[in-house]
Amino acid sequence: MTELKHEKRLTTIILAGGKGTRMKSPLPKVLHPVAGVPMIQRIVETAQKISSTEVRVVVGHGQGLVTQVVEPMGAKCFVQTEQKGTADAVKSANVQDLDGEVIIMNGDHPLVTPQDLLELLRIFREEKLDLAVATCEVPSPGQLGRVVRQNGKLRAIVEAKDASAETLKINEINTGLYVVKALVLAEYLPQIQCLNKQNEYYLTDMISLAVDDNCHVDGIKMPLHVSSGVNSQQELAFATAQVFQRKREQLMTEGVILIDPPSVFIEETVQVGAGTVIYPNVFVRGKTQIGSFCVLEPNVFINEAMIQNSVQIRGGSYLEQCEVQSHCLIGPYARLRPKSVIGEEAHIGNFVELKNVQFGKKSKANHLAYLGDAEIGTEVNIGCGTITCNYAADKKKYKTKIGDRTFVGSDTQFVAPVEIGNDVVIGSGSTITKPVPDGSLAVSRATQVIREGYTEKMRKKLEGN
Ligand code: UD1
Ligand code: CA
Repeated sequence: MTELKHEKRLTTIILAGGKGTRMKSPLPKVLHPVAGVPMIQRIVETAQKISSTEVRVVVGHGQGLVTQVVEPMGAKCFVQTEQKGTADAVKSANVQDLDGEVIIMNGDHPLVTPQDLLELLRIFREEKLDLAVATCEVPSPGQLGRVVRQNGKLRAIVEAKDASAETLKINEINTGLYVVKALVLAEYLPQIQCLNKQNEYYLTDMISLAVDDNCHVDGIKMPLHVSSGVNSQQELAFATAQVFQRKREQLMTEGVILIDPPSVFIEETVQVGAGTVIYPNVFVRGKTQIGSFCVLEPNVFINEAMIQNSVQIRGGSYLEQCEVQSHCLIGPYARLRPKSVIGEEAHIGNFVELKNVQFGKKSKANHLAYLGDAEIGTEVNIGCGTITCNYAADKKKYKTKIGDRTFVGSDTQFVAPVEIGNDVVIGSGSTITKPVPDGSLAVSRATQVIREGYTEKMRKKLEGN
């Protein structure tokens, strides 16, 4: 989203001080991740994406942890020492020093998008409102605050716990998202009292106070996802499912082929090129980039990786913080660990593990190998069972270098640090401890011994001469 210009100062206040008792979790509620991103981080990002002049977060329960997440993002924290309700929470955010417009959001509605906020702001400005409440029509309103209208006009919001049987039947609910003029907020906030079943200061009381004074107040109906609050693990899982579904829809719209969409989980931060095919049970995380015309077979897990075009990642492979250049063939059952770069057209086969390896163009390690802290040239063949012994008894890591076009026979150990030249042949079963110059053969294994007739001789001996 491009930088937006607002005529007036726009402050977003996010309420995140509550305990979240129903989460039954030691983690503060707003830090629970929705599709990999803590709820509060999502909401702060949403507020920043609409170019809020300032983002203020009210913290209380678990304030240390919440602050650690939001302050590095540029939000300002305000401590609410005792959780005395949503109005008290807003008060903690020093509203008297504000001017212009104020958005108030709940820290537990992670599905609200920047577009939702912009739409609400647009209507607020167009209708010249003093206070706008985002509402939703929901099939089962449960514990949510009911929107009471008179002749269609917003009159009040009544919390479910304080509502009459008649009011409880209302399906229009308060989403906890508001836009209000700073002056209006400063006027009514101090007037809110705690005369209700929960003995709390309700921010929702601001509506009836403003209506009584003939302020311009309206309830704006918003799409259903705006009402999705997270108060329990079930609601958290629901929100997560929605975010993953949005991402699948986006990818398919952009031409990514998902064979079984519901079984594929791709975080929002991931980019995938058109024409890439994704099989069932694939999970892709973080800032991963995947090019076009790739194939991700079943049970592939990728975190923070760069995958270029036309890469085939076969079933059961696990990739993290690595780079795979175009036309590579990875897996099945390959493990690419951090800082590995796989050059174009290279093959990494089954049960091969790489960590911090520069693996050259067109090189191959097709079966059962561990390569760690190594630089491997182009068109190298790494035989089955090859190991770079990078970790020494002194607990330090050492490097193996292998030149271009070198052929490494099966079951070779490179005892690092060690350097192998170009066009070298290493005999199978060798333990290489010394440098090997360009173009030479290196073999280090016990010489084979033959004793003809040995078996027959032994048999006779055992049978008693
Ligand atoms: C609130 C609304 C309700 C609305 C619902 C939408 C009030 C009185 N009710 O109810 O009308 O339908 O949201 O989800 O506003 N918080 C604080 N400090 C406090 C209390 C709450 O920071 O003292 C924070 C919570 O962390 C949470 C948000 O405010 O992020 C909402 O609080 P919560 O207790 O969940 O309000 P609801 O009862 O859900
Ligand atoms: Ca809530």
